[in-house]
Amino acid sequence: MRITDLSFMQGYIRMATDGANMGWHERNGGNLTYRLTAEEAEAAAPYMTFDKPWEDIGVAVPNLGGAFFLATGSGKFLRNVCLAPQDNLCIAQLNEAGTQYRVVWGLEQGGRPTSEFPSHLMNHSVKFDVTGGKYRVIYHAHTPAVIALTNVLELDDIVWTRALWSAMTECAVVFPGGVGVLPWMVCGGAEIAKATSELMKQYDVAIWAFHGTFASGESFDTTFGLMHCVEKAADIYLRILSAGGAKQTMTTENFVAIAALFGLTLPEKFLKD
Ligand code: 13P
Ligand code: ZN
Repeated sequence: MRITDLSFMQGYIRMATDGANMGWHERNGGNLTYRLTAEEAEAAAPYMTFDKPWEDIGVAVPNLGGAFFLATGSGKFLRNVCLAPQDNLCIAQLNEAGTQYRVVWGLEQGGRPTSEFPSHLMNHSVKFDVTGGKYRVIYHAHTPAVIALTNVLELDDIVWTRALWSAMTECAVVFPGGVGVLPWMVCGGAEIAKATSELMKQYDVAIWAFHGTFASGESFDTTFGLMHCVEKAADIYLRILSAGGAKQTMTTENFVAIAALFGLTLPEKFLKD
């Protein structure tokens, strides 16, 4: 038995590989974090060591104090995760105050967790509260169609949500809460972490202009599926624009009908033609 045989490790590795194969992770682009259950942390404990120093996170996430996260290493390539998880990933434990972390497994050739760790942890913190602990996955990808579209569409939650919902009928079912959009900001720090986590209070998806996408979810499958759906919708929308723009499109009435079929409530602000 190796730590990489544990099912949460397998799920993480598969998702990292799938994302790389989608073309979302050029070089070290993108990162993935997963909050372990108590049982998973116990199963992984024999492989952990507790001799590394505590490091400041740069933000405070007191509701996640003591939690363990499986995270991408900074500068590591997601396509290499399946070849050497122990060199490209780490498990980081937070201190009780949720202000510091220490690496307890992985990064065997050295390194630190992703530079977007503050954003990941603040998103985890918000989602922990709003989902009652159900959400465990935060995923950042350099999704090409989304990035291209941030050069073309107004950087506004309503404009983006309507554009993506209207690109493909089931989008409103996959992300009924819509998507949030941030203007360009310096990545990797506390400011963008705070702004992204503000969006995560309402949305499962946050778009970073000229950079990429953050998606959150309960499992690897739902989070990957959400990223895939958003990126595919953005790609379809770009094709519509490239073809000269829509001659006809879905209406508010259509969205209301879809919501009724699936028993969903769509936020009022997205239901104006
Ligand atoms: P890291 O290599 O530090 O994870 O950074 C990649 C990235 O996508 C930054 O936004
Ligand atoms: Zn990035």
